[in-house]
Amino acid sequence: MCGIVGYVGESQAAPILLEGLAKLEYRGYDSAGIAVYNGNEVQMKKAMGRLKVLSELTHDGELMSGTMGIGHTRWATHGAPSDTNAHPHFNKDESIVVVHNGIIENYLKLKKRLTEKGYEFISETDTEIIAHLLDYYYKGDPLEAITKVMHRMEGSYALGLIFADHPDELYAVRKDSPLIVGHTKDGSIIASDVPAVLKYTRDVVFIQNEEIVKLTKDNMEFYNIDEEPIEKETTHIEWDVNAAEKGGYEHFMLKEMYEQPKAILDTFSPRIKDGQIVIEELGMSDEEMKDIKKIMIVACGSAYHVGMTAKYVYEGLARIPVEVDLASEFRYRDPIIEEGTLLLIISQSGETADSLAALREAQAKGGRVLGIVNVVGSSIAREADNVMYTWAGPEIAVATTKAYTAQLIAQYLLAMKFACVKGLLDAKELAGMIEDLKKLPAQVEMLLNNKNRIQKFANRYLAARDIFFIGRGIDHAISLEGSLKMKEISYVHSEAYAAGELKHGTISLIEEGTLVAAVLTQEALYKKMISNMVEVKTRGAFVLAVTNVDNTEVERAADYVIYIPKTNKYFTNSLAIIPLQLFGYYVAVGRGCDVDKPRNLAKSVTVE
Ligand code: AGP
Repeated sequence: MCGIVGYVGESQAAPILLEGLAKLEYRGYDSAGIAVYNGNEVQMKKAMGRLKVLSELTHDGELMSGTMGIGHTRWATHGAPSDTNAHPHFNKDESIVVVHNGIIENYLKLKKRLTEKGYEFISETDTEIIAHLLDYYYKGDPLEAITKVMHRMEGSYALGLIFADHPDELYAVRKDSPLIVGHTKDGSIIASDVPAVLKYTRDVVFIQNEEIVKLTKDNMEFYNIDEEPIEKETTHIEWDVNAAEKGGYEHFMLKEMYEQPKAILDTFSPRIKDGQIVIEELGMSDEEMKDIKKIMIVACGSAYHVGMTAKYVYEGLARIPVEVDLASEFRYRDPIIEEGTLLLIISQSGETADSLAALREAQAKGGRVLGIVNVVGSSIAREADNVMYTWAGPEIAVATTKAYTAQLIAQYLLAMKFACVKGLLDAKELAGMIEDLKKLPAQVEMLLNNKNRIQKFANRYLAARDIFFIGRGIDHAISLEGSLKMKEISYVHSEAYAAGELKHGTISLIEEGTLVAAVLTQEALYKKMISNMVEVKTRGAFVLAVTNVDNTEVERAADYVIYIPKTNKYFTNSLAIIPLQLFGYYVAVGRGCDVDKPRNLAKSVTVE
């Protein structure tokens, strides 16, 4: 996520901004910038790359004098990383300047309206429209202009704002993206997160949605969107800096698991407009989509597991044949790419060497490639013919969770779009699926809050030698991801198996007490799965079942059951994977493993 810092007080602002941004580096970013009011005008410096570049550009802030300013580290969502796209952004006469964390979902519509009114844009960002929209509404009262702009914007935003003709006032606004404010010894400070302010204060105010704060060096005034003054409570922060970077969670992985509801929401909401699936970045007309005769999905690791799930969703919803391949295999098997084939390269980092090589191989053979990528401006994003971003925000833990979850959402949306275009999903069915999509964030949150029960169960398996995950259809794909999570962070050997395959060999490994996690979310396969569970149970296995809340049959074949809420049968991976992520996480924690940085692994495998 982007990072915001702002200061108004008696000290020089620039060094405070740079230092605060440095404390937010863990959030991931690709460029940075600061703007400082120097008594006459707002000076701004911004650059692509690490904060070090900006510090060198400003001589650690010495070249930018002034006691009020705002700073930003950018995690690109709209517009590739560049000096121009870096924040802050000015209005046309540079009298208003803004930094932003979040996504303005209706920015294209607002940009069009402002262009018609003669405004010019220099960046590709959604943020720049905020500066011009403030300019459009500004008549000398910042609060009035801010609330008018808030009524026009859709999406998520935390903003830091300076109005040059109000040189002693710093403004900040919040909707969905985090924002806190506090006092320093000689002024006031705003930031995206606690680590940036801990040096100055442990007493902070958490800004809530649609609240505005007006800061001067001595005061903080809080308003709601109707410009009415409101009272706010101060919170005393107990965390140390290390814990603060993780938002109070023990590990980035757990923090990112808890960010999954937002990752789901941020990935689907900009792509559902007036009850329709709208994927502008697809770059294909409905006619072109109708001409797609085959989909080839190529990826590695967890992204490959997303592809395994997506196969069932595309084939089930859109009746398009799908082939799923490991990128490391695809790139060397001289693949046959027929006319009318769409290739999906799925990658969180967008830098995985095998996946990038597979993309190039596919394009060399005339294939059309759509990248499903989390890192804006990454190699796969740049080289694909089109790219559909998963807006999960930066993922720090090596073991992917929120990016995986966001990739699933991207697949559901694409499959629904194909099905609509092909006339295989009528308005009522589409509305029902969109309703189910919209329920996912809260359902994921409910499953995450079940973590203590899963931690207790995990503590029984810290000494396990083998753990098996079995499933059929989509549940086999879920088992693959559940098994990988277990292996890669707890180092406990695990295998995922198509449940129907057990009797062809693997069942010989089942001994007294072997744990078998059975995933059964596909109602049509309940009976088959239950007989597989009985098969292993009669050979001594302890059976953990992950199944739908309405599955009344399961308890006769399982020793321990984790229920997931009802959802569309194509979306069950998004829910069933949550207890399996938590299971792997707590076994790893119980075994004292380095959860965020497991041995031998890298966050992005940029070598073969
Ligand atoms: C998953 O937890 C692993 N970190 C790994 O399997 C990962 O999914 C794989 O390396 C692919 O990475 P990518 O999505 O960045 O291409």
